[in-house]
Amino acid sequence: MPVITCIEDLKRMHRRRAPRMFFDYCESGSYTEQTFRDNCSDFQKIRLRQKVAVDMLGRSTRSEMIGEPVAMPVALAPVGMTGMQCADGEIKAARAAEAFGVPYTLSTMSICSVEDVAAATTKPFWFQLYVMKDEEFVDGMLERVKKAGCSALVLTLDLQILGQRHKDLRNGLSAPPKMTLPVMLDLATKWGWGLEMLKTHRRSFGNIVGHAKGVGDTSSLASWTAEQFDPQLDWGKIARLRDKWGGKLILKGILDEEDARRAADFGADAIIVSNHGGRQLDGALSSIRMLPPIVRAVGDQVEIHMDGGIRSGQDVLKALAMGAKGTFIGRSYIYGLGAMGEAGVRRALEVIWKELDISMALCGEKDVKALGPHNLLVPDDFE
Ligand code: FNR
Repeated sequence: MPVITCIEDLKRMHRRRAPRMFFDYCESGSYTEQTFRDNCSDFQKIRLRQKVAVDMLGRSTRSEMIGEPVAMPVALAPVGMTGMQCADGEIKAARAAEAFGVPYTLSTMSICSVEDVAAATTKPFWFQLYVMKDEEFVDGMLERVKKAGCSALVLTLDLQILGQRHKDLRNGLSAPPKMTLPVMLDLATKWGWGLEMLKTHRRSFGNIVGHAKGVGDTSSLASWTAEQFDPQLDWGKIARLRDKWGGKLILKGILDEEDARRAADFGADAIIVSNHGGRQLDGALSSIRMLPPIVRAVGDQVEIHMDGGIRSGQDVLKALAMGAKGTFIGRSYIYGLGAMGEAGVRRALEVIWKELDISMALCGEKDVKALGPHNLLVPDDFE
C-alpha cells in the first residue's frame, strides 16, 4: 500500500494510472478554467484561528444532512462517467461511502445504473437528475429511482446546456474510448486500468441506455445534451418534478442570492451552492465566495450545502464555519477511485476526516456543529 498523506498524493496516482482522457475529464473546467482554479485558490485566502489550552477529548465530526446522520458533513457529489475511472466505479464509490457513513450521490450520467448500485449496497443513496425534454423518460427514471430506494433527489439546475471543456475535445473523450493511435500509446503504459476494464461488462451509460445514442463521444456530447436536456427548465417544471418525486429534494447549482430565495420559498430540503466544479459558467465566482451572501439571504430558511474546490479537511472546516450545514466533494474522491478503486475512495474520506478532526481541535472546537465565523479570518474583500 503506497503512503498516501493527502488528496494531492491520490491525484498523482490517478494521473499515472487512468487513461489521460479520463483523468483530464476529471481535471478540467470550462473555457479558461478561471472558475475551476478560483474554487480551490479562494479557500487558501481564508485562514483559521488557532486556540490553545482547550480540552480536546471527546471530539465529534458527526452531524446530519437533510436529517440523515453522517459521520462527517461531507457527501460524495454526482460525477458522470465515474465507471470509466475504474471498473464499476459507481459501485465502489457507493460502497466506500456506505462503509464510512457519508451519503453517495449517483449521477444520471453514470456508467453503472441505479439498479446496479442499489443491488451492491445496503443503505439508501441519493440520485442526481438531469432534466430531459422527454417527460416520459424523466418520469420513468423517477420511478426507477424510487424503486431503488434512493432517499433524496438532487436536481441539477446548472447544466441545461454544456459549457465547453477544451481538453475533452482535444482528447476525443468518449466512453468507452475509441482506439486511436494516441489512445493506444497511452493505454500501453496503463495496463492496470485496461485489465480492470476487461473485467466489467458495464460499458455504457446505465441509466440512460436507449436515450444514450451518440452520448459516448464528446464531439457529440454537446449536441446530444442540446437535443436531450430541457433548455426550458423553469420553476414550474421543477415544481412538477418535486410533486412527482414526493421525497426529499436538494437543488444543486445555486450561485445567486435571488435564486437561493426562490429555492427556499419553493420548499427545497436543501440547496447546494455550486458552480459545477467550474465546469459550466467560466467567470462565475467561486462557490466559497458566494457562500456568505447566500447564507445571509436564506440561511434561516433552508439547509445550505456547498461544493467546489474542497481538497482537504481544512477546506471542509472553512465551509462549515461560513455557514454550510454540509459539503460535497467531487474530484477529491474521484482521484482516490482512479488511483486505487474502492480503497482509494475510502482513503480520500479518511484523509479528509482526519484533517477535519485535527484542524477542528487546533481551532479549539470539539463539535463540528459548533464551528462558526469565530474560527476564521476572512480577508476584507471576500465578503
Ligand atoms: C461533475 N459534476 C457533476 N454534477 C452533476 O450534477 N452531475 C454530473 O453528472 C456531474 N458530473 C461531473 C463530472 C466530473 C468529472 C466532475 C469533476 C464534476 C459536478 C460535481 O457534482 C460537483 O459539483 C463538483 O465536482 C464539485 O467540485 P470539486 O469538488 O470537484 O472541486
